[in-house]
Amino acid sequence: MEKIGFALEVEDLSKSYSTGWRKPLKLALDGLSFSLPQGRIMGLLGPNGAGKTTTLKIIMDFLRPDRGRVLIMGKDWRDPGNRCLLGFLPEQPYYHLYQTPRKTLSFFGKLLGMDDRQIELRISFLLELVGLGELKDLSLHRFSKGMLQRLGIAQALLNQPELLILDEPSSGLDPVGKAEMRTLLQEIQAQGTAILLSSHQLSEVEEICDHLCIIDKGRQVAQGSLEELLGEGDEYEIVLEKNPALDEATMRMHGARLEDESRLIFPRSRLDSMLRELIGGGAKILEAKPRRITLEEFFLSRVGSGREGEGK
Ligand SMILES: Nc1ncnc2c1ncn2[C@@H]1O[C@H](COP(=O)(O)OP(=O)(O)OP(=O)(O)O)[C@@H](O)[C@H]1O
Ligand SMILES: [Mg+2]
Repeated sequence: MEKIGFALEVEDLSKSYSTGWRKPLKLALDGLSFSLPQGRIMGLLGPNGAGKTTTLKIIMDFLRPDRGRVLIMGKDWRDPGNRCLLGFLPEQPYYHLYQTPRKTLSFFGKLLGMDDRQIELRISFLLELVGLGELKDLSLHRFSKGMLQRLGIAQALLNQPELLILDEPSSGLDPVGKAEMRTLLQEIQAQGTAILLSSHQLSEVEEICDHLCIIDKGRQVAQGSLEELLGEGDEYEIVLEKNPALDEATMRMHGARLEDESRLIFPRSRLDSMLRELIGGGAKILEAKPRRITLEEFFLSRVGSGREGEGK
C-alpha cells in the first residue's frame, strides 16, 4: 500500500497563556492534532479565539508549546536546518513603502543567503507568478492591499518552501482580489507546494482548500478532505425545471421536502421511487445528485454556539 507523505504533522499540541499574576492560565490549545498531506491546501478554520494564530505561531517556532510537537516533511520543526522548508505570510505583512517589489524581495533574498544571480532569477519568476511582473519597479506606496498581499506571497515563496503557511491571506481583499488569490494559491499548489491557511471565512475555505481542519476551543473537531467531510450526507437532490407540484401526502410518503422552488430533497433510499413518481407525473428533471451539505451547515454542526466571552 502506498504510504501517504505528510507536509505537516501537528501532534498533541497544548499551550497555556499567562493572564497576569495570580490569575488562572488561559488554555489556548488543548491537545490539538492534525496532518496535512503533501501538495494539498488545508484550511485551518475556527471561530474567534479558537487557537488558529497560536497554532501557526507554534508551527513557525515563534512560540513554544507546553506539550506536543510538529513535524515538517517528517522532520522536527525546531531543527534550524528544517526551517528552510517553510514560507510564511503574516496576517499584516509590513514593508517599507518607499521601496519597490524588486528591492524588497532582493532584501529578503539576501537575508536568506541567496547570491545576486539567484535573487535576480527567482524575483523575476515570482513577480510574474503573482502578477506583479510589470510593476516590479513601482514604489509600494502606490500599491493596493491586494497587490501588497501578492508581494507577501512572493516573499514567502522566495526560498522555494515545501510548505507555505498563510495567516488569513484574503482578509481585507475585495471579491476580485479574493478570486485572484484563489487562482494564485491553486497555481502554487500545482507546483507541488503544500499550503496551510488560517481563516474564519467559510466560503474562502470551501473555494480554495481541498482539506480542512476545524478547531474549537483549542481542540480539533473535524479534519479530512472536503469530499470526505461534506459528501457524507445520506440525502439526494433533484433539480426540476419548475415546482414538481407533488401533493403533501406524496411528499410525506417519500420523506421529501422542497429546498427552493425547484429543488427536491429526499432520502437516498427513495431515489428510485421518487424518479418514477416525477417522470410519471411529467416533470422535467434537470439534475439528480447526492446532496452535499454546505461547509456552513457542517461547521455549525461541529462548532459549539457559545462564543468566546459569552457565559463567562
Ligand atoms: N499573548 C496572549 N496572552 C494571553 N492570551 C492569549 C494570547 N494570545 C492569544 N491568547 C488567547 O488564546 C486564545 C486563542 O487565541 P488565538 O489568537 O490563537 O485565536 P484565533 O483562533 O487566532 O482567533 P481570531 O480568529 O480572533 O484571530 C484566545 O482565547 C486568546 O484570547
Ligand atoms: Mg488569529
